[in-house]
Amino acid sequence: MLKIGIIGCGKIARVRHIPEYLENPNVDVVAYYNRTFEVAQSYEKTNGGKAYASIEELLNSDVDAVSVLVPNRDHAAVTIQALKAGKHVLCEKPMATTLEDSLEMVKTSRETGKILLIGQNQRLAKSHVKAREIIESGELGEIIAFQTHFAHPGPEGWTGKKDSWFFDKKVASFGVMADLGVHKTDVLHYLTGQRIVKTFAELKTLNKKYSNGTPISVDDNAFAIYTLENGAVGTMHVSWTNYGEEDNSTIIYLEKGKIRCYDNDEYSLIVENSDGTSINYILDVLTSNKEQTTGGRTSTGVIDEFINRILTGTPSLLEGESVIDSMKVIFANEISARDSSIVGIE
Ligand SMILES: NC(=O)c1ccc[n+]([C@@H]2O[C@H](COP(=O)([O-])OP(=O)(O)OC[C@H]3O[C@@H](n4cnc5c(N)ncnc54)[C@H](O)[C@@H]3O)[C@@H](O)[C@H]2O)c1
Repeated sequence: MLKIGIIGCGKIARVRHIPEYLENPNVDVVAYYNRTFEVAQSYEKTNGGKAYASIEELLNSDVDAVSVLVPNRDHAAVTIQALKAGKHVLCEKPMATTLEDSLEMVKTSRETGKILLIGQNQRLAKSHVKAREIIESGELGEIIAFQTHFAHPGPEGWTGKKDSWFFDKKVASFGVMADLGVHKTDVLHYLTGQRIVKTFAELKTLNKKYSNGTPISVDDNAFAIYTLENGAVGTMHVSWTNYGEEDNSTIIYLEKGKIRCYDNDEYSLIVENSDGTSINYILDVLTSNKEQTTGGRTSTGVIDEFINRILTGTPSLLEGESVIDSMKVIFANEISARDSSIVGIE
């Protein structure tokens, strides 16, 4: 049995990582560390295992692997510390808050020989996996254009707090552009098999306020016009101010048809052919914050992917190195919005 440690015992630990570890027959969750010790102790009480008072003590224990589930600012430092201590790491998104840190995480993984996966769970969503297969087969021809959205009412519903760290630039570093935008930017890379080579982005704080009425210190809406390697152009809009139903859809327009992922309540994937025929797939429902907050579906497949990677050595869809291109786009979006300029991405 693999021994797992949880570093950062907050919401994602509670509703996603720990439940998915508990469902995996090959692991035991044996260790918890949280900046506030009492929080780690509460997990020890409910789930068994041991709460540690310091990260060093946890990393000196015999755990084989850890989930890094702390706020964005500390992803890189904690991940690098854990890799150097000889632990495999599954780190949540966004990978890091600078490109240098993202690259250092990958380098440390390579040097230590320890696995580094990033929680880009949307790559594992069944509609995306099937859509990628269809696009890769070439049956619908070249990609011409695309649009992708991730919009919900904001992290307050997830954290239960009006003024959470998600709104604090010093801790989160980014707003919705990286919180949700890293998912959709990454999905575009995954679906199309191409890199985004150019962006023009707007990051705005349009509506979201702290409880004292002042605007939050990060963007609550982000818009980007992306260009792919083959010249296809499309848009991404991510938002924390969609006060209706969550929108998590992606549409790809190709020479011989159109692929619609998660933009229909009944069908998770719809393929519309240019001859007027279409195929509707019922594959899954994308795991959403709302469902997990209300105790619904728990499995994103991320934990099984991590454990399988450790036990079999089979390369994973979530390798740290494969997320670097998406992080480059995130940082390019920041520059583009700051300078009102079109930014090329190497
Ligand atoms: N993949 C996804 O779709 C998804 C969804 C939600 C959150 N996340 C990511 O998961 C991470 C955690 O988010 P959350 O919603 O669980 O936040 P949270 O605030 O609920 O939990 C974070 C926990 O970490 C603790 N903490 C803070 N700094 C720490 C440190 N240096 N060492 C140890 N513990 C520390 C806090 O006390 C808190 O208990 C974030 O990076 C977020 O972006 C990913």
